[in-house]
Amino acid sequence: MHIREALDADLNDVLSVERAAFGGEDEAELVKNLLNDPSAKPTLSLLAFKEERAVGHILFTAVHLLTDEPNTILASILAPLAVIPETQKQGIGGKLIERGLQMLSDAGVELVFVLGYPSYYPRHGFETAGCLGFEASYPIPEKDADAWMVQALRPGVIGSVTGKVICANALDRPEYWRE
Ligand SMILES: CC(C)(COP(=O)(O)OP(=O)(O)OC[C@H]1O[C@@H](n2cnc3c(N)ncnc32)[C@H](O)[C@@H]1OP(=O)(O)O)[C@@H](O)C(=O)NCCC(=O)NCCS
Repeated sequence: MHIREALDADLNDVLSVERAAFGGEDEAELVKNLLNDPSAKPTLSLLAFKEERAVGHILFTAVHLLTDEPNTILASILAPLAVIPETQKQGIGGKLIERGLQMLSDAGVELVFVLGYPSYYPRHGFETAGCLGFEASYPIPEKDADAWMVQALRPGVIGSVTGKVICANALDRPEYWRE
């Protein structure tokens, strides 16, 4: 298995992985829109290959933190993560997350958010974001509060800043903010 950044020429592979993993068109459409959205930049799009076949994809897009005072925090959100059914539970999703976080950290990103499975993402360093003062773009129902998570890539950033996460235009729809 190897992981590399997805190129423009890989778009069909990216979209096929999304369709196979989610069993529909919605996430493929979202990824296509985010990759074409200037407000989502900088993006990080990684593909995992097994024997030259694309089997996994992860996308990170830029977000802004709306705070009382202007800030220069660099932040990103993970959405979506997809591994095709035939190769799930082999660690590919985890490796995509870890590689992405390392690359974002190298690029100076300080905070990474995700809305997802609360029993999965904490394995990779995420913790509940709401109680740390990070508000999601759309209100998360109380019963799903632990699905809204954050990870600091710079020590000390959590606790020194709070605010509302403003996502890219393509992700700024209430249906994408339901767990
Ligand atoms: C979720 C997903 C990306 C995980 O990819 P993967 O390569 O199978 O993940 P890993 O091999 O790193 O980890 C597998 C673990 O994730 C767990 N996992 C998978 N789906 C899960 C879910 N819905 N809730 C909680 N844990 C889940 C598996 O049970 C497995 O746990 P185990 O190690 O205790 O057996 C993959 O199952 C997938 O693409 N699912 C469909 C799309 C999706 O739901 N994406 C996530 C959106 S937040």
